[in-house]
Amino acid sequence: MTPTGSLEPALLELDELQDRAVRAFASAGSPDDVEAARVEYLGQKQGRLKSAQERLKTLPNEAKKAYGQRFNGVKQALEAALDAARSRVERRAVADDAIDVTLPGTAPRLGHRHPLAQTADELIDIFGRFGFAVARGPEVEDVRHNFDALNIPPVHPARDPLDNFYLSEGTMLRSQTSTIQIRVMESQPPPVRVIAIGRVYRPDTVDATHSFMFHQVEGLMVDEGVTMGDLKTVLRLFARSYLGEDVQIRFRPSFFPFTEPSVEVDMLWHGGRRWVEMGGAGMVDPNVFKAVGYDPERVTGFAFGLGIERLCMRRHGIDDIRLLYQNDVRFLDQF
Ligand code: PHE
Repeated sequence: MTPTGSLEPALLELDELQDRAVRAFASAGSPDDVEAARVEYLGQKQGRLKSAQERLKTLPNEAKKAYGQRFNGVKQALEAALDAARSRVERRAVADDAIDVTLPGTAPRLGHRHPLAQTADELIDIFGRFGFAVARGPEVEDVRHNFDALNIPPVHPARDPLDNFYLSEGTMLRSQTSTIQIRVMESQPPPVRVIAIGRVYRPDTVDATHSFMFHQVEGLMVDEGVTMGDLKTVLRLFARSYLGEDVQIRFRPSFFPFTEPSVEVDMLWHGGRRWVEMGGAGMVDPNVFKAVGYDPERVTGFAFGLGIERLCMRRHGIDDIRLLYQNDVRFLDQF
């Protein structure tokens, strides 16, 4: 081919090509737009830059150097414009994602209360309807509230270091929620009608029915003329509310230093054959009233203490107490 073209118009066309291409990349609004501009201007087969390169061959030799230099400049400008356009539309795609308010939200995975906490809530609810307020006390207790004021003599086996978690001199992890009976009566005059729910600690070997820590619900009612009949009524009403209408309740004679007389409370329900022991109860011992400054000639009262794990396990058919403490979500999800 004989070179026939002249340099000036060829350089003008290169300028024009650069202008249009840079504008096309700058106005591309989406990845598709950028790709279309790339094919049009930088495409290997029929791109305009390619055609401009072909043009070199049509120029006379003395024009080739000038054209070639300008051509390289245009090529760099177009590649830079392409890069800029690409990163601009990608950034926008990311930003659009981040604020797409029309997307459905990610639903938070809600947990729920632990079965023991659910049981505690239900106990508070049921006894609340019977007029019982909720009292609290510390888990780290002194020996006076755990034993002395509860009429447990200094040499009583319940104080055995092998059966208790003693801390420093005179303090311990409470072994029963009866400590809260004392704290409530120390802090207010009669009448009293409270329940208390909390952890208690005893160094038992862990197995399917024992744990070194478990929960109790303690009840205390003190007033003039409170009788064992009231105790039985309250516990029966509670058992019916919690376990069902067909529940039966039975007292067996027992002994606790802080109640006199004392009983073990058994329950039987759904036509079951076996009585299940739920806890201890009794009429508050006059010595306990004396320890807290109440007049045992004027007031009487009853107290009871039931195991919350036992209630929860009966209700849900759980056969191993350890499941309640392992926090395995596959287990907890069921409640
Ligand atoms: N505190 C006793 C226990 O842990 C239970 C109890 C409470 C007994 C109140 C009588 C009155 O075994």
